[in-house]
Amino acid sequence: MLPRDIGLFIKSARTDAKIARLNRTHGSRVAFEAAYRESDDPWASASPRYRYQGLKYDRLVALLPAKRFCNALDLGCGLGLLSQKLAGRADNVLGIDIAPAAIEHARRRAGALDNVAFQAGDILNLPASLDGRFDLVVVADVLYYLSPMDTGVLEKVVARIADLLTPNGTCLLANHFFFSADPDSRVSRKIHKAFEACPRFAVTSEHRRAFFLATLFSERRLRLAA
Ligand SMILES: C[S@@+](CC[C@H](N)C(=O)[O-])C[C@H]1O[C@@H](n2cnc3c(N)ncnc32)[C@H](O)[C@@H]1O
Repeated sequence: MLPRDIGLFIKSARTDAKIARLNRTHGSRVAFEAAYRESDDPWASASPRYRYQGLKYDRLVALLPAKRFCNALDLGCGLGLLSQKLAGRADNVLGIDIAPAAIEHARRRAGALDNVAFQAGDILNLPASLDGRFDLVVVADVLYYLSPMDTGVLEKVVARIADLLTPNGTCLLANHFFFSADPDSRVSRKIHKAFEACPRFAVTSEHRRAFFLATLFSERRLRLAA
């Protein structure tokens, strides 16, 4: 990270504050949609001015098991920048985001990439037709926006993500993390612990890096006792 990347964190904090305000009065779909209508890059993730986010996407993809995936899902894909990187590692990539405006941006940015598709959808209300379809699900910097962000909602979402995976499929969970020093990092830790506590996931590896925490999980089918 370069000193000027600090600007990225300042822009992100401003966007998050606006979203939190609008979320309280209008709900998360309206709040994220407004953010993507107001700016075509609300978190400056694609800005050539800041190197941090692009490097982070590369580092996340590098953590994946060294194999080619069939169907990858990027949940909360935003502008689809990580989806585009995943396109080099999977036959098909689907990006889903709650904000239709984000999906418009993502489609435009993906241009001619023919193995990436995007659709609007809420992690809290995904269609059953997606179940068991993905050998890779990536969830990067999304779940701390869940509203309400409580243990019950988290448990439901974690179980839902397990449903989306094929047997032994891979889930890559990544969230902002600064050594538990700030409130957001504590929320990130809570999210990762919720996945770790779910009997349908086994931790494959955990990676603490400057400003993010990434955990790889493997889906495990529960065997019912005879
Ligand atoms: C900080 S951005 C991260 C985007 C992308 N994952 C990345 O790493 O570049 C958070 C994204 O989560 C999306 N999001 C928030 N809540 C969601 C939900 N309940 N279902 C689907 N997407 C959601 C937002 O619209 C936003 O695009």
